Amino acid sequence: MFVYLNGQFIPHEEAAISIEDRGFLFGDSLYEVMRSYRGFLFEKEAHLRRLQNGLNALRLQVEQFDDLIEIATRLLHENGLTEAEATVYFQMTRGVARPRKHAFPATPASPTVFVATNPLQPNHLWAEKGIAVITVPDLRWGRCDLKTTNLLPNVLANQQAHEAGADEAIFVRDGIVVEASHSNVFALIDDVVTTHPKAPILLAGITRQVVLALCQKLELPFAERSFSLAELRHADEVFLTLTSSEVTPVVHIDQNEVGTGKPGSITRRLQEAFREHVQQFCQTS
Ligand code: PDD
Repeated sequence: MFVYLNGQFIPHEEAAISIEDRGFLFGDSLYEVMRSYRGFLFEKEAHLRRLQNGLNALRLQVEQFDDLIEIATRLLHENGLTEAEATVYFQMTRGVARPRKHAFPATPASPTVFVATNPLQPNHLWAEKGIAVITVPDLRWGRCDLKTTNLLPNVLANQQAHEAGADEAIFVRDGIVVEASHSNVFALIDDVVTTHPKAPILLAGITRQVVLALCQKLELPFAERSFSLAELRHADEVFLTLTSSEVTPVVHIDQNEVGTGKPGSITRRLQEAFREHVQQFCQTS
């Protein structure tokens, strides 16, 4: 497998970064994950927009920004992933600076830019049978709309879910359902497909946006409004959205069944609509 690191396409095992990289020392770094279907990058413009917003917020300038899609496409080809499904991981840090100081280096370092592709085996069991989740307090900072690599609360919450025999952890802040450790949360409440509105306390998922557009197309009532943990517990259906597993039904929350304990019919319709949307995207790309 080849990866891209700072201007070079090199074998995965040869890629290394400095111990003084600010991404390593401070988490002074941003990432993005795109999905490719048969070599075509899904919603690439939306992902790039989110990345650009993040870079602006971090005041990070990346020379290669305009070349990122070309770099990803070349990697997908070189790694033999144009007939398969894959994810593409992008990470940019503020680069190497010595000595270690919190403030930006006086002379800007050149950012570290890393791109890698990973083959993706979609989890059909998740899509078919649904998953179990737990709920946890949201201990994260106030700018979760930025896709920074500061993911410790997400890592710990996800690990807690695994130790509880579940697959994902939903963050609850002041009694409100925000999102999950690496996905957005939707609930069918009084026949309305409901998700937290965009806000600094959550990531505006690209899959979330596609699903909202599909609700509109299918004429399913939907709302971007905050909802409580109690509403989540009583929801008829719950599902998660994320780049690597599209629409994933949730059938258990904190060991209680959601609805009938099986993926619901609206979730199924959205899963199918998503698949069709992807097929159309591949045909027209
Ligand atoms: N995670 N919320 C959080 C906290 C996330 O980390 C993610 C994505 C999402 C869903 O966003 P999208 O639909 O754009 O993938 C929501 C990525 C995939 C990850 O960390 O690997």
